[in-house]
Amino acid sequence: MLFWRVKPLDQILETAAKKSLVRQLGAFQLTMLGIGAIIGTGIFVLTSEAAQKAGPGMMISFVIAAVVCALAALAYAELAAMVPVSGSAYTYTYAVMGELIAWVVGWALILEYAVAAGAVAVGWSKYMNGLMNSVGMGLPEALRSGPYDGGSFNILAFVIVWLITGLLVIGTSKSAKVNAVLVAIKIVALTAFIAIAVPAAQVQNFEPFLPTGMLGVYAASASIFFAYVGFDAVSTAAEETKNPQRNVPIGLIGSLAVCTIFYLLVGYGAVGAGGAQPLFGPDGIALETGSAEFIAACKGSEALVCTGEPLAHILRQLGFASTGNFIALAAGLALPSVILMMIFGQTRIFFVMSRDGLLPAVFSKVHPKFHTPHVITIITGVCVSAFAAMFPVGVLADVSNSGTLFAFFLVALGVLVLRRTQPDRYRAFRTPLAWIVCPLAMAGCVFLFFNLSGATELYFLIWAVVGLVVYALYGRKNSALAPGNQ
Ligand code: ALA
Repeated sequence: MLFWRVKPLDQILETAAKKSLVRQLGAFQLTMLGIGAIIGTGIFVLTSEAAQKAGPGMMISFVIAAVVCALAALAYAELAAMVPVSGSAYTYTYAVMGELIAWVVGWALILEYAVAAGAVAVGWSKYMNGLMNSVGMGLPEALRSGPYDGGSFNILAFVIVWLITGLLVIGTSKSAKVNAVLVAIKIVALTAFIAIAVPAAQVQNFEPFLPTGMLGVYAASASIFFAYVGFDAVSTAAEETKNPQRNVPIGLIGSLAVCTIFYLLVGYGAVGAGGAQPLFGPDGIALETGSAEFIAACKGSEALVCTGEPLAHILRQLGFASTGNFIALAAGLALPSVILMMIFGQTRIFFVMSRDGLLPAVFSKVHPKFHTPHVITIITGVCVSAFAAMFPVGVLADVSNSGTLFAFFLVALGVLVLRRTQPDRYRAFRTPLAWIVCPLAMAGCVFLFFNLSGATELYFLIWAVVGLVVYALYGRKNSALAPGNQ
């Protein structure tokens, strides 16, 4: 039956074994790779969005999102160690739940990777605009943000996406050394923030702690979830890892653990030193971030919730202008690597889907000189740059989260299905207490999904329906597993 057009695990592993990618990454590099993909726009920019939704209670939001991600990471680790091949959640579901569900996951991963790349580009532009402003070279307002974000065209976000797409076309990809340097820059920047902001925390900034109630806290956790996304990038490097059964779980869980500690301290420092009270409308309801009323209320305001560069802003307000500028510079240098990782991940997933026949073969065409999948890289660049030029960071991050939560849900389900269907297969890493951890991970994903805005849920639904139509018209017939194509 169509639903159960399953690609056998052994066949997937055989294909991977035939490929000759050099296994050179160890546990430490993998953890660094994860941290490189995780720390980005979420913590550097969305902290102020979370504050508008939850006030100081956003500290709880950071914890909720971390717990859901930790549960999902434990599930990811079992599958990634068992099936150490490219394609991440798409490949796992293909092996476990069949082609149709794998297709939907692959389709949802487009949201996770491509839309997230757009979100990070917009976040980056906020810091760059702030930096350019501070040295008297500010761009005109209209060019600082997109038409759905109070401006006309976000030129910096558009340009950075094309620069990175260009680099990917000519073959620059993840370089472990460059990544290590950029991770170090991000860690130094966050440490500097924590060292200044945490001691400056004042009790009155925590009052009222829950200005929007627990519903605000939940909504903020669904958004700030974005800050943790990226640990799954570790699993995309499984084919290039030494002893993947041991090192992939260490990389997945280690990178998430390190980032969680930093985020909790940054969250505490931001609330305690910056104050994090939301702006309310005349009806006493917190204004929606990005809405016309919110943008109007923010005009000329110094509130934390209004800034696009919260960490730098807080330090400048505390009188540490040059450290604030250093943080902006660190974000300016390091965030492009997150964009690169996301676009790279996207092209890899498209590549595998096209190799499986679910997308046209031209997508996996490789450039004769650069040996990169240039066609799909450029198509991805067109889409990502368009999102980045037009939409606000919060909307893009939320839409990306919807796809990620869907993929995480199916990974956790996949672990349980495989435990039942193939109980004897060797598992180098076993999710501890899988029958508790995986259902909790799934419940967490559902919980966060339904705490996204109604508009985001609608976009996700439309995207899923479009995906099913594309599958019905194309993938079903052209799949490498379709009758007659094998
Ligand atoms: N976690 C990544 C970020 O926050 C996607 O930019």
